[in-house]
Amino acid sequence: MKFFEPIQIGTMRLKNRIVLAPMGTTTDSTCSFNAYDLAYYEERAKGGAGLIMTGAVSVSDEFEPPACQLLNSNKHVYMLHRIAESVHAYGAKFAIQLSPGIGRMNWIDPHTAPYSASPCPNYYNPELICKELPIEGIHKLVKAMGESAKLAKDAGVDMIEIHGYGGYLIDQFISSKWNHRTDEYGGSFENRQRFLFEIIDEIRKTCGKNYPIAVKVTLDSMDDDEKPLEEGLSIIKRLSQSGIDLIHYGRGSYSCRWRMVSSVYQHPGFDLEAARLVREVSGKVPVMAHGKLNHPDVANKAISDGLVDLIAIGHGLIADPHWPNKVKENRLDEIVPCIGCGECHFNAMKGHPRPCAVNPLCMHEKEYQLYPAKTKKRILVLGGGPAGLKAAAIAAQRGFDVTLWEKNQYLGGALAAAAAMKFKKDVKDQLEYLIRQVKKYKVDIVLEKEAILEDVLSFHPDRVIVAIGANPVVIPIKGHDLPHVTTAIPALLHPETVKQNVVIIGGGEVGCEMGVEFASKGKKVTIVEIAEDILMAPSFVANKQNIRYMVEHSLVHVLTSCATKEIKEKEVIVELNGNQEVLKADTVIFSTGFRSEHSLFEQLIDKNIDVVEIGDSQKPGKVIDAIHQGYHCMRVYEG
Ligand SMILES: Cc1cc2nc3c(=O)[nH]c(=O)nc-3n(C[C@H](O)[C@H](O)[C@H](O)COP(=O)(O)O)c2cc1C
Ligand code: SF4
Repeated sequence: MKFFEPIQIGTMRLKNRIVLAPMGTTTDSTCSFNAYDLAYYEERAKGGAGLIMTGAVSVSDEFEPPACQLLNSNKHVYMLHRIAESVHAYGAKFAIQLSPGIGRMNWIDPHTAPYSASPCPNYYNPELICKELPIEGIHKLVKAMGESAKLAKDAGVDMIEIHGYGGYLIDQFISSKWNHRTDEYGGSFENRQRFLFEIIDEIRKTCGKNYPIAVKVTLDSMDDDEKPLEEGLSIIKRLSQSGIDLIHYGRGSYSCRWRMVSSVYQHPGFDLEAARLVREVSGKVPVMAHGKLNHPDVANKAISDGLVDLIAIGHGLIADPHWPNKVKENRLDEIVPCIGCGECHFNAMKGHPRPCAVNPLCMHEKEYQLYPAKTKKRILVLGGGPAGLKAAAIAAQRGFDVTLWEKNQYLGGALAAAAAMKFKKDVKDQLEYLIRQVKKYKVDIVLEKEAILEDVLSFHPDRVIVAIGANPVVIPIKGHDLPHVTTAIPALLHPETVKQNVVIIGGGEVGCEMGVEFASKGKKVTIVEIAEDILMAPSFVANKQNIRYMVEHSLVHVLTSCATKEIKEKEVIVELNGNQEVLKADTVIFSTGFRSEHSLFEQLIDKNIDVVEIGDSQKPGKVIDAIHQGYHCMRVYEG
């Protein structure tokens, strides 16, 4: 694979071209990197990436609170230095991404407007108008970028990446949509770029002309008018002539976030479509791209074809820090696939230590390790969905004697249904991985075995894990029990039973995904949602925006504020705006949530069995809940 070849970036030699993409890790009240960050970065260096990069680190807290870490004093250098040492021990290099701010993307409180290039609407609350950053503020931030860069250099950091992308503060200065200044930082295109280029000059001044500098830059904002392509190309051309060492380009904006932070629906290497354009203007300066490049063939081809020089991997290295070594050693079956659920981003935005749905060790690399079982206890796992599979694999990996009963003919539970949609290949890969794991650790799998109390008792387990999933909720309206009425899981697993005119009741994520899936197969689909909008549950913004975009760009017909009144043999009666309407329907699918069933769990408790209930059995939840509960319940088990 070409990405294992070394490369020279200015004065920095990288052992390979695999880069941990900059991804902000939330911090504690010190605003410093902490021991969790140290373990997180160290693990990714150990896993074989050639360059480890931090997420965006603020250089000042004078104008806005830092979104992640802050680097403006020796106090913040302490852990940075320790991370640099650990990363270097594995032969990798260490870069820091420095940011002068995120401007209008700030959320301080409902009343405090953040600073931006000019007065413009705050992203989260457009009624809150941002304040114009005073000219002295610009000068201070430019200086602060230089000072922080010097602190980083002295701490042992090998390269600075300037966070000049994503619609954040530097981009707000560049964009004529947000920058209406009349001083030398506004007006002409050249003036709008002044902030960025002064920062580069300042870092050169403080760190010396040979110290490597990268710039992460937005090529264009795609579905938004913040930055046209010609401007992005022109900036890249100027950057390539400015003496910087690496151009890292990205695309999109906050209003189409899935173009920036990949969604589950994006295809591998989605940003490579623009790589040739970037190459044409970037001269001899190496180029780095990101966007689901954790697919070895896609990444290899991008480098072999000369499109890019380095590949930055974000989600892929959160999910599996050892991706590089596994690829190198041709252990592709052992790679933990990212499922694109976005829990890492969604939870980090809430201030949680950034978790990963499929990698419970993420940000807990040292504390959640597994230890061998002391005695070979007999573990019975009921249910072969993601929670049960994970619990079984972890128990068996620790050395327990594990049996798994699954009532269906197949493993995977609800995940198998999600994996059946063609744009959910990532989920399919994860399910296959989980199944490989239970087989690898020799779990005794019994299919078509429904768990009943007597059988469980006569099995004499030392511990039972109840992971039997949840039952779909069907609203008991007239006609709900007709033969052409079904629920999401059977409809997805047996698409051949879904006829031409489909009505989906429920416009949440599952309903919308099913709608797009069946519409792409030529079905005539209507989604009926009782709420005023589809996709109302909080979730990862990129997935949410992306599936909405897919619904809007499909032939799916959406009815909101619409109540389902009755299902008949060939039609569904709904009430919309106070009027009754008739929808043609030869398949009706309820996508109205799930409800747990606790009776077996309670019976086992009554029998004094050591029993734990996890996943949807405990409470209908997300994949992250299922996999983490599966992992932890057998991680902490003493036996
Ligand atoms: C949790 C999370 C945090 C991120 N934080 C940053 C950041 O601080 N700076 C940045 O430039 N990009 C950030 N990104 C974007 C990634 O660097 C990368 O461009 C994007 O995830 C696409 O690459 P991927 O498909 O390999 O994940 C973040 C992405 C994620 C998932
Ligand atoms: S949380 Fe989900 S999207 Fe993020 S890295 Fe893990 S699997 Fe991928």
